[in-house]
Amino acid sequence: MKRLRLGVNVDHVATLRNARGGVYPDPVKAAELALAAGADGVVAHLREDRRHIRDDDMRRLRALSAPLNMEMAPTEEMIAIARALRPHACCLVPERRMELTTEGGLDVAGQETLIQTAVAQLADAGIRVSLFIDPDPKQVHAAHRTGAPAVELHTGAYASGGADELARLQEAAALAAALGLECHAGHGLNFENVGPIAAIAEIEELNIGHFLIAQAVYDGLAAAVRTMLARMEEARRGANAG
Ligand code: PXP
Repeated sequence: MKRLRLGVNVDHVATLRNARGGVYPDPVKAAELALAAGADGVVAHLREDRRHIRDDDMRRLRALSAPLNMEMAPTEEMIAIARALRPHACCLVPERRMELTTEGGLDVAGQETLIQTAVAQLADAGIRVSLFIDPDPKQVHAAHRTGAPAVELHTGAYASGGADELARLQEAAALAAALGLECHAGHGLNFENVGPIAAIAEIEELNIGHFLIAQAVYDGLAAAVRTMLARMEEARRGANAG
């Protein structure tokens, strides 16, 4: 069985940074921490509205030695940016301005020519393309026809508790592998629901973002509070001694 890789999406470190308009916390620093902890690669979504990750973040993430997976809509603007940046991989996703996150898979079957062209333009720049699709056999077959080497199965409906969603993912992963597509998965995965997905033998990569960044608050807040209290006490001691 192939090893299962983890790509860590750092979009929401940028969300937190942008809330204050400064440079802290830095998604590149978070990417370095994730890689040092054993993550296999870094994922970042450059959205049309630049609500979290910005162009300069992409350039700095690209400069890291680990593989960068750039999530993007298959638009002319994004294809030009990706061709100049040359990340290891691009994951093509649907994008609607008002959505909170990527709400469904890319309709490859409904826009095959457009996706095929995007795949070819990115492949021409040496970029490995995956298509973020719902676990639907129609979409898996269409993805295969575009010439993309990989698909990423959208696990959002599974994560929301949809009945039969695990079976749909298992079947789509088996179909993708049978067609020779590398199979990835992601969206909404967390400690509770990752097990059955990680157990699907055909899946070679999971891409996880929001939960990991949120969990880092729980895992890290106590240490940050302790350090702050120590600095405060230290300063008080210094003031009293002086
Ligand atoms: N994979 C893709 C293609 C995505 O668009 C996203 C969300 O940016 C993820 C994985 C990660 O989803 P989550 O942030 O819910 O872990």
